[in-house]
Amino acid sequence: MTRNIDDLKNDYKKIFSDSTDYEVYYSPGRVNLIGEHIDYNGGLVFPAAISIGTYGVVGKRSDQQFYFYSANYPDEGLIKIDLDDLTYKKEHGWANYAKGILYELKQRGYHLPYGFNLFVEGNLPTASGLSSSASLEVLVSYIANELYDLNMTRTDMALLSQSVENGYMGMHCGIMDQLIIANGIKDHALLMDTSTLQMTPSKATFDGYTLIIMNTNYKRKTTDSKYNERVSECSQALKIIQKSYDITYLCELKTNDLDAIEKLLKDPILYRRVRHTITEQQRTLDAMDAMKAQDALLFGKLLDESHASLKNDYEVTGLHLDTLVLAAKNAGAVGARVTGAGFGGCAIALVLNDQVNRVKDEVYQMYLDKTGIEPAFYIVTFTDGVNKIKHD
Ligand code: GLA
Repeated sequence: MTRNIDDLKNDYKKIFSDSTDYEVYYSPGRVNLIGEHIDYNGGLVFPAAISIGTYGVVGKRSDQQFYFYSANYPDEGLIKIDLDDLTYKKEHGWANYAKGILYELKQRGYHLPYGFNLFVEGNLPTASGLSSSASLEVLVSYIANELYDLNMTRTDMALLSQSVENGYMGMHCGIMDQLIIANGIKDHALLMDTSTLQMTPSKATFDGYTLIIMNTNYKRKTTDSKYNERVSECSQALKIIQKSYDITYLCELKTNDLDAIEKLLKDPILYRRVRHTITEQQRTLDAMDAMKAQDALLFGKLLDESHASLKNDYEVTGLHLDTLVLAAKNAGAVGARVTGAGFGGCAIALVLNDQVNRVKDEVYQMYLDKTGIEPAFYIVTFTDGVNKIKHD
């Protein structure tokens, strides 16, 4: 799945006929193993950076213009942006994520003395829950940091990217995606404490098992608004709970607080949202123990329980994801669940190595029969975070 660097450079040259030096960068996507929808509640999450992501070829310009081109959106052509007008424009489509980074940098008082040409090509399916937008944001943050010597840490880049998503793009996401894409470590997942931004690398594979990413290929347009609705339900619940509990984040609560919380909240929907949050936090802790003990069956059971909670209490799955996960379970996966925001997008399944092909075939057929859509499957490796690709 890795792109050939010479091909990328040639593609850049076809679009930008400049003769300046240019550099190639790779920014991964991410998969979250467990700890879903709790990164905006101060929870523990367990994502990994993956070997599908976004490539960027960059050449400096001598003026204050930014020319952006995406091989994934050729119809949108070359998007030309002036440093003096970095405001969001609907017609700039995908390029708003890149523009937003420049906008935020300027807002923060950073000096951007010249522009650049950027050729982007991603092999992450868009809107699939594997963080194609965060991958692009962190890519552009990293490029700007290098070009303009901004001295940002990788975590600074993640926070900058999250602020673009939250403010400029209006998606009130947590920090998980940007943080793992900036800080990923090859062959590891990172246990992230989203209340402190502390990260602990952990081996994240089970001997004899493969993690399959399964794409529903179903895209719901309301993902962002539904996502924001969940964020706001959690903050509503937090405000009520804070009248009786001295907490900053919902994830400070424990499962044995649940009965008291139910009485406090009164509203059954808010209660179910909080129940997911608290139980998911506990499942993430249990999953870490299962990982340490190399207990794939227990880890799989926790994946199943996570999916059930996201389906019943948090209500972010839907027919397509539920069908895919059920198909994987019926085909013999030891555990399966949605990954990412949900409402469509991808799920993961943990499967014995010698059953991978059979499980894929069976899931393909079961899902197609039920939904009329062909699913896609990816087997990835865990990679480092965003980086410049060394080349001659
Ligand atoms: C999206 C958001 C993340 C996180 C996940 C759900 O990917 O960008 O911050 O909330 O959904 O876990």
